Amino acid sequence: MTQQLSPNWWREAIIYQVYPRSFNDTNGDGVGDLPGITAKLDYIAQLGVDIVWISPFFKSPMKDFGYDISDYCDVDPLFGTLADFDAMIAKAHSLGLKIMIDQVMSHTSEQHAWFAESRKSRDNPKADWYVWADAAPDGNPPNNWMSVFGGSSWQWDTRRRQYYLHNFLVSQPDLNFHNPEVQQAHLDCLRFWLERGVDGVRMDACNFHFHDRQLRSNPPALVRDTATVSDVNPYGMQAHIHDKTQPENVAFLQRIRKLLDEYGAVAIGEVGADDSLAVMAEYTEGGDKLHMAYSFNLLTPQCSARHIRTQVEQFGARVKDGWASWSVGNHDAVRVMTRWGGDQPDPEFAKLVLAMQLSLKGTPCLYQGDELAFTESDVPFELLQDPYGITFWPEFKGRDGCRTPIAWEAATNGGFTEGKPWLPVDEKHIARAASVQERDPQSPLAFARRFIAWRRTMPQLTRGDITFFDAPEPVLALRRDAEGERSVLAVFNLGRDATTLPLPQAAGAQTITDPGLPGSVAADGTVTLPPYGAWFGYVK
Ligand code: NOJ
Repeated sequence: MTQQLSPNWWREAIIYQVYPRSFNDTNGDGVGDLPGITAKLDYIAQLGVDIVWISPFFKSPMKDFGYDISDYCDVDPLFGTLADFDAMIAKAHSLGLKIMIDQVMSHTSEQHAWFAESRKSRDNPKADWYVWADAAPDGNPPNNWMSVFGGSSWQWDTRRRQYYLHNFLVSQPDLNFHNPEVQQAHLDCLRFWLERGVDGVRMDACNFHFHDRQLRSNPPALVRDTATVSDVNPYGMQAHIHDKTQPENVAFLQRIRKLLDEYGAVAIGEVGADDSLAVMAEYTEGGDKLHMAYSFNLLTPQCSARHIRTQVEQFGARVKDGWASWSVGNHDAVRVMTRWGGDQPDPEFAKLVLAMQLSLKGTPCLYQGDELAFTESDVPFELLQDPYGITFWPEFKGRDGCRTPIAWEAATNGGFTEGKPWLPVDEKHIARAASVQERDPQSPLAFARRFIAWRRTMPQLTRGDITFFDAPEPVLALRRDAEGERSVLAVFNLGRDATTLPLPQAAGAQTITDPGLPGSVAADGTVTLPPYGAWFGYVK
């Protein structure tokens, strides 16, 4: 918990993401809710994190499970009430936790009153609040833009006899940010939550706000992006130069920042761009836009020491004072244990990944259940909920496998609900339930608590510079340096085989025993790491 807040406290913080549908259900309807989060805030506080990012709990028809909002200023009855929200934030603050809401500004639900009005005619007061366009002369959409979730991003509307833009589902029409009234409406909604005491905002798809006013088609991608877009999705075949990441967005983010500064609140942006690192840098540079940004660059299917090093180094090379958040798991990606750890990954791998993530320069963002070493769940097609997965099944199974509910107890449905869970609770998770791990000092949960507590005492890790060293795969070797502190070396073995390597920089180093990691060093700098082992030391 943050006691004394420095102006840049958020740089030293750890974010923990709660996906409310799957966190904790208190009313037996099979879907998690706000009182469920409140009941588990002690657990989150004990983990030692600072900020709780809660995925959307606003009114929504739930076609994209809350990322399709029909009223920004109310809680969906599925999750509770505004009074439940107030109780939750009060408890969080009493525990020293900060609450970050998730604002999905780029699009609304088709059921939002704004869209209902906009689609009525071409001349109503909100006619221009969404992105409407006439058909091409042959009746086709106005250009070649594609939806992230598959197919054209244009949907024909019979009443207006026009197409509307949707970068995601057909039921998620895109707002027209070129209209200043739209921007103001969002600022007003955000103020509503700031007045209720929220400490921060995660900005969904924050580079999707604006589109090219001339509606120019995108050219083909020179190199197809299969790292952050599944290779079964043609979305990765375009260079997305006209449908998103438009220059006008910078001024809008500055307006958001001004508002947040009135309340001392912070913003983290989700960036999915052709060059996400550059956009993360641009949006966080200068202290007048987002505080931090994350991308899908560490949510990739493959992991290697080189890949991690390259992302962090390339971001560092692009910024002066901008700031990254590094996320290795969230509600959009296959769970990291499986994605990087393969079939039947060893729980030790979860410890290694956590230690590695928390040693990178940037604010780490943890995903619920990763601290429990939960693996990806196998959700059969009949039980699938995610429309993205249903479209691309079976080559791409969507996002349900990382969204199955948290197993709290070794009990029916993992103690998540007394009803029928909206997605099955994974038996493998029940064997690793939180209460089981609480009793085991060697568990991934116990390790996470210890490591996070130790990290808090290490300015080198929370605010120091980072330098990487060459090491053979699968070893990642780095140094963190903070002014007035001894340099810290950290070496991680991402592989399932033990390894020994000469690391001249480690000669004469003194092992740091506090994080309880199993690696060791010889006087000449030879580092020995067991499978998924790591070693930390002070450099002489
Ligand atoms: C990004 C969110 O993380 C994802 O879950 C959602 O489907 C899209 N944005 C659309 O809002």
